[in-house]
Amino acid sequence: MFEKIAVVGAGTMGHGIAEVAALNGYVVFLCDISEEILREAIKKIEWSLRKMVEKGKLGNEELTLTLNRIRTTTSLEEAAKDSKLIIEAVPENLELKKGIFSRLDGMTHPETILGTNTSSLPISEIASVTSRPDKVIGIHFFNPPVIMPLVEIVCGDKTSKQTVDSVLTFIKTLGKQFIICRKDVPGFVVNRILEALIQEAAWIVHRGEASMLEVDSAVKYRAKLPMGLFELSDYVGIDVLYSAGKAIQDRDGGVIVSPLFEEYYKNGWYGKKSGKGFYTYTGDLWEKPKIPPELADKVNLEEIFAPAVNAAAWLLRNNVVDKEELDKAVILGLNFPEGILQMADKWGIDTLVQVLKIKRSKYGEYYKPDQLLEEMVANNRLGVKTRRGFYEYV
Ligand code: CAA
Repeated sequence: MFEKIAVVGAGTMGHGIAEVAALNGYVVFLCDISEEILREAIKKIEWSLRKMVEKGKLGNEELTLTLNRIRTTTSLEEAAKDSKLIIEAVPENLELKKGIFSRLDGMTHPETILGTNTSSLPISEIASVTSRPDKVIGIHFFNPPVIMPLVEIVCGDKTSKQTVDSVLTFIKTLGKQFIICRKDVPGFVVNRILEALIQEAAWIVHRGEASMLEVDSAVKYRAKLPMGLFELSDYVGIDVLYSAGKAIQDRDGGVIVSPLFEEYYKNGWYGKKSGKGFYTYTGDLWEKPKIPPELADKVNLEEIFAPAVNAAAWLLRNNVVDKEELDKAVILGLNFPEGILQMADKWGIDTLVQVLKIKRSKYGEYYKPDQLLEEMVANNRLGVKTRRGFYEYV
């Protein structure tokens, strides 16, 4: 396996990926454009490792060893030298990523695997600027990488089986689980579903159908997601979700970014990291917004989740992933209490299709129910109530 790896980009995801790799014995070169960003990244890694020591999950000695395995540098050449695996985690800008991949291609051993942690940009296009598209692959971690169990592997058109196998072996050494997104579709599996869900929450608030706290309360206390959707947006970064959403929208219209997100993004209200997002923060990394449980019944979950189920149906119908892997993706990548297809079966496929039809009549074609959902209704595969939906029930 790889002894030394490099992580390019020391932001929210990059520092977390470096932390996970170092925790699992790898020497990691963490690279970014300024010493200040790198200092900040190390501070966050240290904070996270200390949290683990406090919780008894890590010893003090292991903390020191882990930190010692992380070297920081502003030189891409230094990071890339002798690394057989490089994971890029710079901001979601296609031209920026292509520039980095082109440079990495010229400065690394021809066998080096070039991975990207992109959350929605096309792997094949990033690979196209290199002389080794077979060794370019999506290695998509979830925030916080040190806690979230999933890594989503995304194949570009030319990614080789050998590359996939090597990366899967690496991921297993991190103690992570994986799903494979078979096609290079916008948003891949998890973000295509997550963006549909989060943007719908924001559309609902923008249209005045419910308040932000009502949506977050319903999602957290009734759907039992670990965080409200606005809380999660602040946590992941409104800038990150805005860019990923826009990338999906521009590529195939799989989501439509809401004006609410546009407004927050343009104002620089990125969430936790900027002190203000949908909630406000004092700077304590451990801080959580207060979401009143008593508001949980003010909005129907089907209204919030129907577009995400539609996105899931699109992924299944297009053979991007199968149903078990799709549910595994949201359970391990987003900490859902159960799969979104399992939830859909409980709500009823006919109910969800009806919700989509009403939204379509009011707000347009984006809400057109996926053909798969329409066929399920026509075939009486309505979910738990008819004992057949995405799954069979006895
Ligand atoms: N470092 C170390 N430990 C951490 C940590 C970190 N960064 N974050 C949380 N923890 C630990 C805590 O110490 C705590 O440990 P114990 O169980 O031993 O007490 C545990 O994790 C749970 O933390 P909290 O009790 O503080 O909070 P929580 O129960 O709300 O869990 C969470 C935090 C795991 C982040 C949870 O809220 C969650 O799963 N949220 C959803 C996260 C999610 O969906 N991530 C994916 C976003 S999408 C993405 O990333 C992809 C993209 O491309 C945009």
